[in-house]
Amino acid sequence: MKIKGTTKITGVFGYPVTHTLSPIFQNSAFEYLGIDFVYLPFEVKPENLKTAVEAIKVFNWIGVNVTIPHKKEIIKYIDELDETSKILEVVNTIHNLDGKLKGYTTDGDGFIRSLIEDGKFDPENKNIFIIGAGGSAYAICGSLISKKVNSIFITNRTFENAVKLKEHIQRKLNFQKVEIIEFEKRNEKKIWESIDILINTTSVGMKEGDTLLIDKKNIEKVKFVYDIVYNRKTELLKIAENLKIPHLDGLSMLVYQGAISFEIWTGKKAPVDIMKKSLQEFSKFKY
Ligand SMILES: NC(=O)c1ccc[n+]([C@@H]2O[C@H](COP(=O)([O-])OP(=O)(O)OC[C@H]3O[C@@H](n4cnc5c(N)ncnc54)[C@H](OP(=O)(O)O)[C@@H]3O)[C@@H](O)[C@H]2O)c1
Repeated sequence: MKIKGTTKITGVFGYPVTHTLSPIFQNSAFEYLGIDFVYLPFEVKPENLKTAVEAIKVFNWIGVNVTIPHKKEIIKYIDELDETSKILEVVNTIHNLDGKLKGYTTDGDGFIRSLIEDGKFDPENKNIFIIGAGGSAYAICGSLISKKVNSIFITNRTFENAVKLKEHIQRKLNFQKVEIIEFEKRNEKKIWESIDILINTTSVGMKEGDTLLIDKKNIEKVKFVYDIVYNRKTELLKIAENLKIPHLDGLSMLVYQGAISFEIWTGKKAPVDIMKKSLQEFSKFKY
């Protein structure tokens, strides 16, 4: 990649930001298609967020991705939101259109594209079991509902957060077939008789030795397992692999949410295979 006087800048705002994998696959995609863009990591402390957003306009960058901890806070500094960002009240992608900043959130659509294109799994009419009620669970539930799932079961360590997610789904997304399973009761046999897909949206699994949240005998019954953790092969994924249950890890979602950002910035179809390949090459020693 050659940086020239004409090169346009994109990147990611985060704090910390050193763990980000996005520069790897975004730059590979720009290079592959001969697009004169570069993608950089920007460490932005919370107290500097407003100034950092102004920099997008001042330096006429193409746009940025936004990650932890800025996805909510950044909304107050941008000019316009797409429909999904309005509903979820988060932004993970900003596009600079002649000095006007538009915010998008691509996590949910990235998850769905990954499930359908990589997982070859159609969620329509399926019963979903989601562990977790954090930011990614909101995005994933929204995108699953848009694909006409039958029902959603949520379990979460903190019960009140599951209640908030359920209320969000019923009121804002107007989807009523959602039920909370108390965290302590998540392994009750009866629940698992109808579940098609199990999705882990918690950070459990990121560290070696993290506990398995669902019993193996219940995992056995599902048709698909998706763990959005992407830094290692989790116990949940190892079990799905052993049981020969179709499954996906978070790298797939990561690529597709980035591919959608790429498409917003460039107006071109993202070379998803090139993005995946660059990521696999980079992470094979750690994964
Ligand atoms: N693959 C991708 O593209 C992608 C995209 C986004 C996020 N992620 C990954 O998804 C995970 C969650 O991200 P997020 O943004 O949704 O985070 P978040 O908003 O902070 O939510 C974290 C969730 O994990 C639960 N949790 C945390 N520690 C737990 C534990 N020890 N036992 C049980 N539950 C626990 C939390 O439960 P409480 O409500 O009880 O705190 C909450 O539901 C992270 O690993 C992140 O890297 C992947």
